[in-house]
Amino acid sequence: MPTVLVTGANRGIGLEFVRQYLAGGWRVWAACRQPASAASLSALAADGHGRLSVHAIDVEDPASIDRLAADLAGIPIDVLINNAGSSGAPTNGGPRPNAAFGQASWDQWLTMFRVNVFGPMRMAEAFAPHLEAARGTILTLSSQLGSMALNTSGSVYGYRATKAGANAVMKSLAIDLKARGIKVVTVHPGWVKTDMGGPSAPVEPADSVRGMRTVVSGLTAEASGGFFNYDGTPLP
Ligand SMILES: NC(=O)c1ccc[n+]([C@@H]2O[C@H](COP(=O)([O-])OP(=O)(O)OC[C@H]3O[C@@H](n4cnc5c(N)ncnc54)[C@H](OP(=O)(O)O)[C@@H]3O)[C@@H](O)[C@H]2O)c1
Repeated sequence: MPTVLVTGANRGIGLEFVRQYLAGGWRVWAACRQPASAASLSALAADGHGRLSVHAIDVEDPASIDRLAADLAGIPIDVLINNAGSSGAPTNGGPRPNAAFGQASWDQWLTMFRVNVFGPMRMAEAFAPHLEAARGTILTLSSQLGSMALNTSGSVYGYRATKAGANAVMKSLAIDLKARGIKVVTVHPGWVKTDMGGPSAPVEPADSVRGMRTVVSGLTAEASGGFFNYDGTPLP
């Protein structure tokens, strides 16, 4: 049975990954910050025929990552989905993350770097043995906002910097982990209707995730390290 581990699995795109892989017959480890209050995951787990379990990972907390890696020691993982992400949206009434030049909130920048860059790197380090055992794939949710070539509108400084950073990290991982049989890919999920994307977003989570699953399943060793749109189009 193929296996997948998803971070930030309690809502939005992460929850949809869980739904689709579960429906496809996979064994799913769903990681989120607060399993006790992850009602949608609990409901799925109740119907999951023992193929879904829910685990606590805060990607800002390395100990929580190492704990699950140890619990799953010796178990091959086919796909690791680094989905957990932060747009730096204010929880304390601070300025918005896409604030104009001169209005950066450095606390928000730090949170975004910890979640969007350190998190996927720490996950890759902790779960490399599990991925190696399956000759598996790391999929990291990036954003077209991380592309230099596609930046025609400016602003969104912190979030852009972290997604560009995630792309840089994943590119190096693709090179360094190649000899261990691990493939790596970064994907822009589209502008998706979630808490982060907002209600005006044109792409449904189901369509985004269906596309990204196809990108993963079709990824060749030669394409490892690439950056793609959710429909499989290469991005600069
Ligand atoms: N939606 C879009 O249009 C869009 C576009 C481009 C890229 N993306 C990327 O796609 C990914 C998923 O986005 P989404 O739209 O589903 O976002 P979302 O609805 O805001 O959900 C974000 C998820 O990340 C989790 N998370 C945040 N900080 C975390 C941490 N420190 N540790 C563990 N989990 C954490 C959240 O958990 P809590 O519930 O505990 O907060 C939640 O499960 C993100 O990486 C995002 O940057 C989204």
